[in-house]
Amino acid sequence: MNDTIALLMNHRSVRKFKQEPVTEDQLAQIIGAAQMASTSSNVQAYTAIAVTDEELKRQLAELAGGQAYVAECPVFLVWCADLYRLQQTVEWHQPGAQSQVSSTENYAVATIDAALAAQNAAIAAESLGLGIVYIGGIRSNIAQVSELLGLPELVYPVFGMCIGVPDQEVGSKPRLPLSGVLHMNGYDREQSKEAVKLYDQTMVQYITERTGGQRTASWSENMAARLIKPTRLELKEYLHSKGFMKF
Ligand SMILES: Cc1cc2nc3c(=O)[nH]c(=O)nc-3n(C[C@H](O)[C@H](O)[C@H](O)COP(=O)(O)O)c2cc1C
Repeated sequence: MNDTIALLMNHRSVRKFKQEPVTEDQLAQIIGAAQMASTSSNVQAYTAIAVTDEELKRQLAELAGGQAYVAECPVFLVWCADLYRLQQTVEWHQPGAQSQVSSTENYAVATIDAALAAQNAAIAAESLGLGIVYIGGIRSNIAQVSELLGLPELVYPVFGMCIGVPDQEVGSKPRLPLSGVLHMNGYDREQSKEAVKLYDQTMVQYITERTGGQRTASWSENMAARLIKPTRLELKEYLHSKGFMKF
């Protein structure tokens, strides 16, 4: 295994951070690495907002559903899909033209760009000895988060990311077997089912050990429970109101 793959294989989310800063230089390296992610037709349709202000972080922690580590980490990055900058190019160079910026395709482009850049940032941070955790929780109160950060139309917060010096030792979480996520030359439903069965065994053992027997549900049980619960149903309306996915 080479060093890069070893780093990737060593990932685990960190939810407790030391009271040590992430330096300006580290942040510049992390965002610089994020910028080198592939981006659809070089549109670079994302913006990261680095939140270091204590009061702002506290409010975001609450809006994310009371996730204390959002307030405790030295830097909280809010990864935004950003079509605002691109819409401006239309206004500069094609005034009066019918812009396609609000298409579902462009929503996907911007969201994918933000995610690819963020994951590059995550890896860069981990390579510097820092820890990260993504925070999808900010979508629980997405309108308030947008307001708080002054997001213009055509910009929405996809997720947040805590970054800081780890203050906990965490074990890595097992993933589906390779056969669950790698199918050769076409989708194999039977393979998919078998992989989930195998993974359920792994995860029951993992979670039983990790919680001292407090939790014993399998992965598929957890996923099913999650998927029958209505979650963040206001997202569609919010995205429309920000100018996304109008057609
Ligand atoms: C888009 C996204 C949103 C997430 N949101 C949260 C969150 O709000 N709070 C949290 O504690 N972890 C969050 N996570 C972390 C996942 O729970 C974690 O990555 C997953 O359980 C796998 O564990 P690992 O990262 O330690 O390997 C999120 C991860 C992703 C990719």
